[in-house]
This record gives sequence, structure tokens and C-alpha cells, in this order.
Amino acid sequence: MKRAKISIIGAGNVGATTAHWCAAAELGDVVLLDIPQVEGMPKGKALDLFEASPIFGFDVKITGTTDYADTQGSDVVVITAGIARKPGMSRDDLLSTNAKIVGSVAAEVAKSSPDSVIIVVSNPLDAMTQRVLQVTGFPARRVLGQAGVLDTARFRAFIAMELNCSVEDVQAMLLGGHGDTMVPLVSCASVGGIPVSQLIEEEKLQTIIERTRKGGAEIVSLLKTGSAFYAPAAATAQMVEAIIRDKKRIVPVAAFCDSEYGVGGYYVGVPVVLGSKGVERILEVQMNDEERAAFEKSVLSVKELVTSMAALTE
Ligand code: NAI
Ligand code: 2OP
Repeated sequence: MKRAKISIIGAGNVGATTAHWCAAAELGDVVLLDIPQVEGMPKGKALDLFEASPIFGFDVKITGTTDYADTQGSDVVVITAGIARKPGMSRDDLLSTNAKIVGSVAAEVAKSSPDSVIIVVSNPLDAMTQRVLQVTGFPARRVLGQAGVLDTARFRAFIAMELNCSVEDVQAMLLGGHGDTMVPLVSCASVGGIPVSQLIEEEKLQTIIERTRKGGAEIVSLLKTGSAFYAPAAATAQMVEAIIRDKKRIVPVAAFCDSEYGVGGYYVGVPVVLGSKGVERILEVQMNDEERAAFEKSVLSVKELVTSMAALTE
């Protein structure tokens, strides 16, 4: 059977860690690409990772490069290229720099891997995913963004910490943009099948929701030199797996919503069925009035960001 090919653009913290998880799970051959200015870096990381493979016994090819020719014909492309947050910066502060970087990367990917499914990770996530759709002209189902798998993982982790129970038994869902306005849905969170509201009191749940919304900033303030990468990379690898293995996982991703949720042509976090074709179906969740208002606020902030991006890129 032909092995899948996964190219990761941007061999920094998230890119290299995504390569690690994808290679270790033998999801396919992995290509790590970065800019010519750091030529040895992607090669060094790829070689280092390959040298780990005899120890853990994962059997895939890992290539480091600065040349898109090496990414030719990829099945999945992950875009992590760009700058990351430092303390005091919001994801939105990255807009102008990353819109240019992500736009140029998307143009290269469209030429070298025209049939790929693209997972965007660079921030501000929802706007960058829209940028990739604009530049590649790919069908929307083949361009999606990673945020919700990470944000729900944080929500699940905080619930498990509060209950001192296994993270494996915590399920959750979350909607909206990848920013402070994201909408963790208490109505969809459960622990071992029990609605979370029966196990954690309302005030504590609100603290957990707030911590989830600020989960990225919490890590930035601890690291001081950049932003989170283990959990973001794990989330991205789970999405790569769903696509490569056609798992039809139900996960929250930034998907292009037009009539869905009444969004009108923007990327926002919603639950989808994720398989080999990319976003195979968007699932519509019923929201109460409070959740609907929070979702609309979040969509508005995504729209404002896309409008600012248009002014920068036209
Ligand atoms: P990093 O600084 O460690 O790595 C970024 C890499 O991109 C660098 O190696 C840089 O040389 C490379 N790069 C810059 N321009 C490029 C170009 N034109 N072509 C190819 N590579 C290029 O940053 P990190 O921590 O890996 O974060 C990457 C991006 O992902 C940031 O924008 C960050 O905000 C975002 N992020 C998003 C998350 C999400 O949940 N969506 C979670 C964590 C990070
Ligand atoms: C995060 O949520 C920075 O978006 C990144 O950690």
C-alpha cells in the first residue's frame, strides 16, 4: 500500500512537534519545510527525528527541506509558518505578518500539492484559514483550521483536573473563533456519560470556561519566549490521522460556514465529520440563548479580523 505523504510547512515548535507525533504514529512519510534563511534547521530536526525511529520502532521517511519540490504530491499539508505570540501579544497582533507569510506559503502549496487537504495552524487561526482558501482556490472542504481540538482538549483537561478523574472519560465540544470569545458548551460536556453540570457547580464551571478561553495566554505567560506547542501539535496530528485514515472523527475544526449556523461565508470553529475528503459534513448543534449570543459575538470578532486582513492584503 502506498504510504501517505504529510508535509509540514514551518519547522518551528508546533511544526516539528507535529512531525514527531505523525512519524511516531506512522501516519505517513513526513516532510518538514522551513525558509532558506534557516536551511540546516529543518534538515537537522528531520534527521534527529529519524534517528529516534530505530529506538521507538516507527518506520517512515522523514525529510527536512527548504524546497517545495520535496513536498510535491502531499496528501495532507499542515501550515504552521509564521510568528508566534510573546507575552502581552494577542493572536490578532500576528495578523499582518502572518497574512503575508501564510499567503505566500498557500500559493506554493497550491502548486506543489494541488489535491491535498490543508490544515492551517498559524494564527490568528480563523483569518489565516480564510486566507489559505482565498489564495489556493481549493474547495472549502479541503481547507480547514486547527483550533477546536486543542481548545476542547484544554477544556477536558481542566474538567479532569477539577474532578481528579481520567481525561479519557471527559467529552466536550466548543464553538466559535480561536480567541478569547470561543464558546465552550457546558450543555455538550460530560464525564463518563454524566452531564458535567451534575458534577461541577456552576461557579466552578465558569472558572473552567474562562481558563479554557485564556488557555493559550496561560502557556505564553509561563513560557515567555513563545506559545504552546505540545497540545497544539497533538491536536493537529489527530486531525492528520482522521484524514489519512478516513476515520470520520467528529471534532471541532475551523470550517467554512456559509448557510451553516447563519455565518455567511467565514471560517469558525464548529463540529464536523473529518475524513479523507477533509470536512465531509458540518454538524449543527442546538444552542441556548446565552450560547447563541456568545457564538454570534465570536463570529463577529472573526469577521472583523477578516475585514482587517482584506485591507492589509488587497
Ligand atoms: P515558531 O516560531 O516556533 O515556528 C514558526 C516557524 O515558521 C519558524 O521556524 C519560521 O522560520 C517558519 N516560517 C516563517 N516564515 C515561513 C515561510 N514563509 N515559509 C516556511 N516557514 C516559515 O512558532 P510556533 O510556536 O511553531 O507557532 C507557529 C504558528 O502557529 C504561530 O502563528 C502560532 O501563533 C500558531 N499556533 C496556533 C495554534 C492553534 O491552535 N491554531 C496553537 C499554537 C500555535
Ligand atoms: C494557543 O492557543 C497560541 O493559539 C495558540 O496556544
